[in-house]
Amino acid sequence: MSILNPPPRLLMGPGPINCYPRVLNAMSTQLIGQYDPVMTGYMNEVMGLYRDVFKTNNQATLLIDGTSRAGIEAVLVSCIEPGDKVLVPIFGRFGHLLAEIAQRAGAKVHTIEVPWGEVFAPEQIEQAIKSIQPKVLALVQGDTSTTMLQPLEHIGEICQKHDVLFYSDATASLGGNPFETDAWGLDAVSIGLQKCLGGPSGSAPITLSERYVSLVRKRHHIEAGIRTSHHTNSEGSRIQSNYFDIPMILDYWSEERLNHHTEATSMLYCARECALQLLEEGVETSIQRHKLHGDAMLAGVSGLNLNVFGNQTHKMNNVVGVYIPEGIDGDAIRHTMLHDYNIEIGTSFGPLHGKIWRIGTMGYNARKDAVLHTLQALENTLRRAGHRVSPGEATDNAYNIYQGAK
Ligand SMILES: Cc1ncc(COP(=O)(O)O)c(C=O)c1O
Repeated sequence: MSILNPPPRLLMGPGPINCYPRVLNAMSTQLIGQYDPVMTGYMNEVMGLYRDVFKTNNQATLLIDGTSRAGIEAVLVSCIEPGDKVLVPIFGRFGHLLAEIAQRAGAKVHTIEVPWGEVFAPEQIEQAIKSIQPKVLALVQGDTSTTMLQPLEHIGEICQKHDVLFYSDATASLGGNPFETDAWGLDAVSIGLQKCLGGPSGSAPITLSERYVSLVRKRHHIEAGIRTSHHTNSEGSRIQSNYFDIPMILDYWSEERLNHHTEATSMLYCARECALQLLEEGVETSIQRHKLHGDAMLAGVSGLNLNVFGNQTHKMNNVVGVYIPEGIDGDAIRHTMLHDYNIEIGTSFGPLHGKIWRIGTMGYNARKDAVLHTLQALENTLRRAGHRVSPGEATDNAYNIYQGAK
């Protein structure tokens, strides 16, 4: 085996994407002990930074160690007791994932569905809430599998009216699309780093409202080996997962620093740097940048004689779905893009498998040069595969968006 030397890929799929260089630097910073005051200071800083990222005043804003689904699992397993009703509106792969995780936690899961490429109207969700009366509504914001962005603005009010806990998975959308934890009335939100935040996967920031925290605190059971005489267990049922037990994780992230897991220091450095990068740029500026480069990519692929997938009114800023044209081998195009140009574009899942490519413009790669290189390479690759294109139209369309934005 030789020294690690991955090819210099440009990752233009639906995530993961290339990291900001400053995030890579942060990850290679030397470790310190988990109770070192510098480390606990960093933990507190991370809580403060992510409050601004999530736009919340929630004290309980912290990292779950693991990929984005670790955040999802922690939120759901901690609040769901066996038999609780959970409503999951599904508009793509990740709705199915929320439903599965809730089911594994013992919930009675009720789902409603719209065809992939569409989103729900608030009335559809309210209607389902009225008939099911769930304890929890679990809803994805940006589902990369379909490139659709579910509007959340009015869902919080509906949940409050019907006394439902409102959780959203904003892994793929936050930082590139508007998101307001407190203003939209969310009780729990989880994300990852590998999309618009421009980091690697492996840390899942979450934020939890006081309502959510007081609910899960009723299930607070402390591990025998760390419990002391002044700790008492709560009356509620013990959370099934130790690793994802939010009351215990909160003890670790609180001033008591009661040990749970060993915090993944390198990922914490990395999550801290992602938040700093986003906040230094400004959340609104970052959203506008994702919109600009997403629009340029959308205009560009339309100039390649390709049709875009889904209801464009609800498209995420940071990813576009493109139909693979008749007679073109989708995998062969991705193969050439990867091996001849070092550019990765995404395949797709489930009902869309083999039908669309997904092309992302997010985080570090929401940049003009990344958009233009991808369009130029795709034009050449499609033309050589026999697809009819007018040379230069894709990049001209993208340039028109950039000029219009000046
Ligand atoms: C909306 C959404 N939720 C969850 C996930 C799962 O994330 P992970 O693979 O980091 O566990 C993804 C990954 O693409 C996603 O886009």
